[in-house]
Amino acid sequence: MKRHMVPCIFSVLVLLIMALLTGVFAQGKSDYAGSDMCKQCHEVIYDHYLKSIHGKKYVTGSPAKGEGCESCHGPGSAHIEKGGGKDTLISFGKDNNVKEKSSKCLKCHGDSKQMAFWEMSRHKTTHVGCDSCHSIHKAPKTSLSSTITPVAFQRKLLKMPTPDLCYGCHQDVRSQTLRQSHHPLRERLMTCFDCHNAHGGFGPKMIKTDTVNELCYKCHAAKRGPFMFGHPPVDENCMACHVPHGGNHYALLVSKTPQLCQSCHDWSGHPGSPNTSFETFKGRNPSNRMFSRNCLLCHPNVHGSNSPTSRGQNFLR
Ligand code: HEC
Ligand code: HEC
Ligand code: HEC
Ligand code: HEC
Ligand code: HEC
Ligand code: HEC
Ligand code: HEC
Ligand code: HEC
Ligand code: HEC
Ligand code: HEC
Repeated sequence: MKRHMVPCIFSVLVLLIMALLTGVFAQGKSDYAGSDMCKQCHEVIYDHYLKSIHGKKYVTGSPAKGEGCESCHGPGSAHIEKGGGKDTLISFGKDNNVKEKSSKCLKCHGDSKQMAFWEMSRHKTTHVGCDSCHSIHKAPKTSLSSTITPVAFQRKLLKMPTPDLCYGCHQDVRSQTLRQSHHPLRERLMTCFDCHNAHGGFGPKMIKTDTVNELCYKCHAAKRGPFMFGHPPVDENCMACHVPHGGNHYALLVSKTPQLCQSCHDWSGHPGSPNTSFETFKGRNPSNRMFSRNCLLCHPNVHGSNSPTSRGQNFLR
């Protein structure tokens, strides 16, 4: 009998030690419990999740294919044992810092084309997280302005359709688009991400192209030329004369003519104002070349001209 007892006691001991060890490891650390467990207490969210793209098992790499709810919220056994609580998992609330929250999403989305410039984007560096613009569960909030048709609702899991989503933090841009001359943003004919990538870009101000001009040429191709006689500031940067969102001078100009032109061209060629004593009707050497105020009357082809000789060279009609 005794001889049979020894291995028996031994195996019981081994089992005891193993149980103790797993107990020690489980303490303070949470395990994956599975989405079905979460369903018991969060049924509404669970049902919504099943309908969303993240809840589809047939989508390669989706949370549903992996850890389910816990792909984003982290292991949930401790949360379940406690019967709830925010500190037991990643709740995406104020307790979690932005980096921690975004890293959960970047785990799967980090190497997509959309995210190529996220790390150096102004949103990343000013601590705007994925959940500032995207919502995984919540029904989208109603938009700020009541005149909108909600075509973009829940598109790309956005919290709100753009541009209202962006206006929430960029009030200044909103006010620009309300000015007399503006890109048709408030008419909802175009939107912020026609020009910007909210996730960052290689060019200035997170625009979708490497330079401002490349962006403008996408829709205003005629301005690219080539022209026999080009106007240097046009090739350099459209922003020399235009504002991007909206302004109070017509054609999105930064200022009106002749001031616009005279910010670079002095009046020695021909003056744009009759009120100077040097060049016009008065003064020692009155000018007979005072050509009224609107430079565009005679120089309409400011973006470049293909007319021959000095007519083209001077962007004349
Ligand atoms: C036994 C019931 C129960 C189960 C099972 C459960 N939860 Fe909870 N959960 C709660 C309660 C209760 C709250 C509210 C706690 C609070 O607001 O402090 C909560 C809150 C949350 C929150 C939000 C915290 C906040 O910011 O208010 C998240 C996220 C969450 N649970 C995720 C999960 C996930 C993921 C699972 C599955 C792994 C899960 N829960 C399973 C009861 C449960
Ligand atoms: C793709 C990532 C992701 C998955 C998968 C996910 N969640 Fe969430 N969850 C979030 C984010 C982000 C928030 C913050 C609120 C929001 O964005 O909707 C959140 C918020 C919550 C909240 C708090 C809701 C509130 O109103 O404050 C609960 C509860 C919750 N999730 C439970 C779950 C459950 C249960 C599942 C699985 C059925 C799940 N989550 C799957 C990302 C996820
Ligand atoms: C376990 C991997 C995984 C995690 C974690 C994850 N996603 Fe996703 N997500 C996917 C997959 C897979 C798709 C569908 C294919 C795609 O668009 O890449 C998707 C789609 C999306 C889409 C596009 C929806 C559409 O309508 O086209 C958005 C937006 C998104 N996820 C945001 C997030 C955010 C924000 C988080 C963090 C809170 C997150 N995801 C966490 C895997 C994940
Ligand atoms: C400032 C707002 C903002 C932030 C912050 C943001 N996004 Fe987006 N995201 C958008 C907008 C707007 C779109 C839709 C762009 C479009 O359709 O051209 C989008 C689209 C997406 C898509 C769908 C891409 C596709 O091609 O279908 C994914 C995935 C995504 N975002 C993930 C993330 C992740 C992950 C983070 C955090 C690292 C994040 N986003 C942060 C605004 C944001
Ligand atoms: C027609 C293209 C276009 C559209 C549409 C557009 N932007 Fe811009 N945005 C630009 C360009 C170009 C710049 C850079 C201007 C510069 O270099 O000075 C810019 C600059 C910005 C800046 C930085 C401003 C600063 O002074 O630093 C913000 C913020 C911005 N845009 C937000 C938005 C928002 C929000 C929307 C949607 C309501 C939007 N943009 C729509 C082209 C556009
Ligand atoms: C949660 C707040 C928030 C939301 C929502 C938001 N932004 Fe921003 N955005 C910021 C902050 C903060 C900065 C950096 C400070 C600044 O330049 O004003 C910034 C900067 C920018 C810039 C300037 C980039 C640069 O290089 O200087 C652009 C462009 C921009 N955002 C576009 C958008 C667009 C488009 C949307 C909507 C899809 C959007 N933002 C939504 C907070 C936000
Ligand atoms: C996504 C397409 C798109 C891009 C990119 C774009 N535009 Fe436009 N632009 C438009 C549309 C649409 C109109 C309105 C045309 C109309 O009202 O007939 C417009 C109108 C204009 C006008 C005339 C405004 C007026 O009040 O008469 C100017 C000037 C202009 N854009 C300059 C620019 C500049 C500079 C850029 C580069 C920063 C740019 N656009 C980028 C689509 C675009
Ligand atoms: C030297 C100043 C200057 C620069 C630089 C400039 N523009 Fe203009 N742009 C003007 C003026 C002035 C008008 C008004 C023309 C008129 O009323 O005949 C105008 C009008 C426009 C218009 C609306 C009328 C039309 O001709 O279609 C568009 C679109 C436009 N510019 C696009 C651009 C683009 C794109 C660039 C950069 C490639 C650019 N502009 C660079 C001065 C400039
Ligand atoms: C940002 C500065 C800038 C602005 C604003 C500007 N120009 Fe120019 N313009 C130039 C430069 C630089 C040249 C090239 C001068 C040269 O080749 O000697 C030029 C050349 C010209 C020429 C041809 C002159 C020659 O000798 O080849 C005319 C005509 C002209 N601009 C008219 C205008 C008009 C009209 C406006 C206002 C709508 C205007 N410019 C606004 C910088 C500017
Ligand atoms: C009544 C028509 C007319 C008006 C208005 C006019 N120009 Fe001219 N401009 C011309 C003609 C014609 C030439 C070429 C003949 C010459 O060299 O004088 C010219 C030449 C120029 C040149 C190139 C050579 C030089 O003399 O410097 C510049 C730069 C220029 N104009 C700028 C302007 C600006 C800026 C305005 C607005 C303040 C303006 N023009 C208004 C007709 C006009």
